[in-house]
Order: sequence, then structure tokens, then C-alpha cells
Amino acid sequence: MIEKQAAVAPDFAALRDEFPVTRNWTYLDLANKAPLPRCAQDAIPDFLREMNELGVREAFSKVRVEEVRASLASLLGVAPGAIAFIKNTSEGMNIAAQALDLQAGDNVIQAEMDHPNQVYAWKRLEERGVELKWVRNGEGCPPVEAFIEAMDGRTRVVAVSYVTFGTGCRVDLPALGAACRERDIILMTDAIQGVGILSASLPALGADIVVCGGHKGLLGLPGTGFLYCREDLIPGMTPPFFARASMVREVLERMEVGLAPDAHRFEIGNQNYLGLWVLGRSVEFLAGVGLAQVEERVRGLTTYLMELLERRGEKILTPRPWEERAAIVSIESPDPPRAAAQLREKRIIASARNNALRFAPHFYNTEEEIERVVGLL
Ligand SMILES: Cc1ncc(COP(=O)(O)O)c(C=O)c1O
Repeated sequence: MIEKQAAVAPDFAALRDEFPVTRNWTYLDLANKAPLPRCAQDAIPDFLREMNELGVREAFSKVRVEEVRASLASLLGVAPGAIAFIKNTSEGMNIAAQALDLQAGDNVIQAEMDHPNQVYAWKRLEERGVELKWVRNGEGCPPVEAFIEAMDGRTRVVAVSYVTFGTGCRVDLPALGAACRERDIILMTDAIQGVGILSASLPALGADIVVCGGHKGLLGLPGTGFLYCREDLIPGMTPPFFARASMVREVLERMEVGLAPDAHRFEIGNQNYLGLWVLGRSVEFLAGVGLAQVEERVRGLTTYLMELLERRGEKILTPRPWEERAAIVSIESPDPPRAAAQLREKRIIASARNNALRFAPHFYNTEEEIERVVGLL
């Protein structure tokens, strides 16, 4: 069991040194890709060494995959059997959309302006007569009432990002989850902009299904991620793909179908062993820092950034209260790609998204970096 919270406040200056990228760049783009901490980077040569010295096969260890599953589950406050490894958020959402057995006439509620990967996973179901209903949210977060208004007797699923990728607003998932439960509706969330940054355990989010790629707050590489599913839902879900890994051992010899009773049923084929080894190291690292400490630090840095931006008269698109945001702070910009390119010349990485310049600090950033960036706008 991983220790979730460090007993004393971490030494963030020392932790920053664990991120080699900080020597070269002011990296404010966690919302795009995470830099790897040194321990996770070291996993790569370790993997290769093991492969060469122990005779290849050992590096591709199913035992280690299960160890990473246990570490991740512990960090997120769920049982290992409730988690399947996936290659990215899109894959996880597609698996969930296909496995829920929606019928013609059923509907799925989504938020306008959500991430395209979220939208497309459900759009696929339109060809079977499933209706997609849209909650309008313009730039901001849709209030829970807007979702409730859209619900009707044929609503089977609400699918929404925990934290939106553009303006970074955080949906009130616990309230939305409660509204869904009252109506027997499944709540699925794409939590990639929240996991590893916010400290709430997955069950506390109130979502039935949570999907997340490993390459943002979890500090892993693209090509990894997880699909969490409330355990009592799993037996009723038929995954879109079958393989040996999805079955219980007893049926394999007879080539019969006997799906694993837990989230293994959503997995197929060889895993991304190297990616999971890296992810496992990052998860242990995050657990050592403590998610509550990470959240507190991100809250402090982003709040400071917002204060300085406000003082400069920038138009901030991200909501101000902490409960309505996470690591993203976006400002309006007349030419976001140009603004991002100009910052890059000064060795600062931020992203252009729609009409916004998006900053996404993490606990390896400093107040001095924030001051410099705002001074250069
Ligand atoms: C909200 C959200 N969902 C999904 C993704 C990425 O999807 P995938 O993991 O499938 O590449 C991103 C960003 O890359 C995102 O911001």
C-alpha cells in the first residue's frame, strides 16, 4: 500500500531538481504532455538493461504490470481489479461507450466545447440510433443544473471532462454524480486534466467510469493510461474487443468465452510494458510527494499566476475559485500561436488553444518563473 500523503510539507526546490527539463525550460505545459521525473527516466535504461542481461523475456513481466496496477489503484483509492490499462484516453472512452450496450432511442448527454476525443467516442453510437444531447457551455463550465435539465427518461449516460482542456474549468462531478445516481444514469468522465493534480480519490468523484491517459498529471509517457470502472458495473459490460487477456484462464484451453470478472476484461494482447514500467515509477514518486501536497502547490502557483495576470489587465478565461479549476490558467489572446512561439523563444513552453494562451504549471515550477512569464507577456 502506497503512503498517500507525505507527513511533512515536501521540499519543492529539491523535487524540482528531480525534473531535468527545468534546467532548460520554464515548462508550463503539463496540460499537453508531462515531463518525466528522473526516476521515471531511469526506468528506460533499466528496462533495456534487464532485457539484455536477463534474456529479453524478463523485461516483459506480467508480474510487474500487476504491481503497477496495484500502485496506481492505491494512489487513486480504488481496488486494483477496478482498473484496466489502456493506451490512451480515447481508447478508454471508446471501450466504455461500446461496452455499455446502449440501444436505439437511448441518449448520451455531453458538453459542447468538450475535447474532440470525448465527443467522437460517443458519436460512433449515432449509427445505432443513439442520440447525443448537448449541454451548451460557451467558454465556461456547464452548471450541474444544465445537465439535469437535459436529462430525460432515455438518458443512459452523461459523459463529460472533469477539467476542460481549453479554459481549465472543473465540473462539479460529485453533484453531477448524485444527480445521475438518482436517475440511474451512468456518469463517465475523462479525468486526464485532473488526475495526479487534484487529490480526490476516484470514488469521491462520484463517477461510475473514469478514463485517463498517463501522460499528463500522472507524469508518464503517452501510450499508457487507465480505465476505472465501478466494480459492480463490470459484469454487465461486454468489451468491444476480445483476447486471451480479457478471459479467465479456465476457458482458454477450450477457446470458449469467459470474460474476466474484473477490469482485466477490457484489456487485450501484450501491454505497453516499457510505458507501464515508467508509469509505475512516476506513480510511486507522486505517492511519495502526496497528492494533497501536489494539489496545494498547484493551487498556490496557479492562484499567484492569476493574480499577476489580473494586475496586468489580462482577460482570464479560467474561473477564479479553486473548486472550479485545476492546473490550467488560460488567457484571451489575439494570436495564441504567435504568443506561444514568442514565449518559446524565451525558453518558456505554453500552449495555444482556440482563442487562448494556456498555461499549465505543476509542482516543479516556481513563483520566480511565474513572475518572469507574466513580465514577458
Ligand atoms: C480533456 C482531454 N481528453 C483527452 C486528451 C487526450 O486524449 P488521448 O489520451 O486519447 O490522446 C486530452 C489532451 O491531450 C485532453 O485534454
